Formats: sequence, structure tokens, C-alpha cells
Amino acid sequence: MPDADPISAIAKAVRSARHVVVLTGAGVSAESGTPTFRDAMTGLWASFNPQELATPEAFEKNPELVTRWYDQRRIGCMACAPNPGHLALARLEEQLTARGGRFTLLTQNVDRLHHRAGSINVVELHGTIMVWRCTRTGREFTPPAEPMTEFPPRSPAGGLLRPNVVWFGEMLPESALAAAFEALQDCDLFLSIGTSSVVHPAASFIHIAKSAGAATGEINPESTPITPLVDFAARGKSGELLPLILDRCGPQAPAGEGR
Ligand code: OAD
Repeated sequence: MPDADPISAIAKAVRSARHVVVLTGAGVSAESGTPTFRDAMTGLWASFNPQELATPEAFEKNPELVTRWYDQRRIGCMACAPNPGHLALARLEEQLTARGGRFTLLTQNVDRLHHRAGSINVVELHGTIMVWRCTRTGREFTPPAEPMTEFPPRSPAGGLLRPNVVWFGEMLPESALAAAFEALQDCDLFLSIGTSSVVHPAASFIHIAKSAGAATGEINPESTPITPLVDFAARGKSGELLPLILDRCGPQAPAGEGR
């Protein structure tokens, strides 16, 4: 059941937090115009079969189709701009670190809109569509801002280039996982924003935060499997609710005081 005034409750918890960990999903970028994955009519998986596009087997079987689809998404993401939700998260990080606190942004998104909004301590759990890597040498490349012209694209070494994202069946980057677990075990406030909380390991991050004694919150227009577990459940769009939370954070005590 959503709280009476979860926005004020979340703002109060942010104000007195020492270390805030935020987990974001595709919902945070929805108001920038990028499609989510599982929203019934508009999500990517409603019109594309992830098994045909977002797996190593799919790339092996049809590298042209897969790289065309990812380059189309890459160009689409570059045409979008950070929305007020992205910008509010960057401001919250700035305010928290200015008073000696910590802010860790764990994102499942591959669009780099958090970076473009000014967020600094961002952990990309599923990689990024803005970097591609050679399947022969592992060398990484940042493609130019215009659409690719050759599919599948090749590196100077002649290997196929693939997007540096995590596909189904692949492991998350070890460094990203380690950073996430360290932050979750240290945080005193965990916020899950714009994710359906069905893809692991991110969907289980709340359990690590709770066992670390953190307060927990969720911002989402709909309920998710973790809604019954959170202390504060705010129903609504992140682009609308995060600026409200930022407004209500006001002057903040030095980190860790007043809890
Ligand atoms: P989903 O599409 O599964 O979920 C999007 C969530 O955002 C849903 O819970 C929506 O209710 C919510 N939402 C929609 N609009 C919103 C808004 N304006 N503000 C806040 N929330 C909103 O996307 P993810 O949870 O990010 O993995 O999916 C997780 C992973 O599954 C992705 O990283 C991707 C996908 O397959 C890989 O590619 C490995």
C-alpha cells in the first residue's frame, strides 16, 4: 500500500542519510523518450523478441540484424536528453557529497543519460550502448555520433564489433558487481527507481541493503515484486517525483547526523 506522503518520507531519509544508493531502470529514461523493456504496449520486448536480439547466440546467428538494432537504439538514445528525474538525481548526489556523504548510482540503463545529466558516481551494471568492443581483441571503441554504415561493423583488427552491453546469459562486469555489493553493504538508504525488479542480480539488491540496516524506498507508477518490502512506496513518474524530493530535501545536516 503506497504511503500517505512517501515523498516527504523519502526526502527526510535523504536529508539525514550518510550513504544513499539508488538503483535505476528503464523507467527513469522513459520521460526522455527512450522505450522501456516490459511496459505492455510500448516496451521493446512487446515488439522485439529479446532472445532474437539480446543474446550471444543471436549475435552469432545474425550479427547484421543484432548490430543494426543496437545501432538504431544507440542513435535513438543520443537523440534523447536527460529528463528532470536524471537531473534531480545528479543534484541529490552533489548536495549529499557536499556535506560529506556518499551517493552511489547503480543503473541497469545503457543510455548514459545519467552521465549526461551530471551524475558522477555511476555504476553501469549492464554496460553501455555508447561503447562497442572487438570480439577478437576485446578492444573498446566509441563509435561516431552518426549511424554506422557497415553491419556488422568491424574493428581495425578485423574482428566483429558488438555493443558493450550485458546480454541475457552473460555475466555482469565483475568490477560493477563488486562496486554495487560494497555500496549496498555500506548504505543507510536504498532507493529503487523505474525498474520492474524482475532481472537479477539487481532485483535482489534490496535484500542486501535491508540486511545492512538501510531504509528502503521505491519510485514507480506501478507496484513491483519489491513494493511489499520497501519502507516508502511512491507511486508516480520519476521525472515528476524526484524534483519534488529534491525540493523537500532543503538544507541538509552533515552526513550521518540526525538519523
Ligand atoms: P522494465 O521495462 O522491465 O521496467 C520498467 C519499469 O519502469 C516498470 O516497472 C515501469 O512501471 C516503470 N516506469 C515506466 N515509466 C516510468 C516513469 N516515468 N518513471 C518511473 N518508472 C517508470 O525495465 P528494467 O526494470 O530497467 O536487461 O529492466 C531491467 C533489465 O531487463 C534491463 O536492464 C534489460 C532488460 O532486459 C538487459 O538488457 C540485460
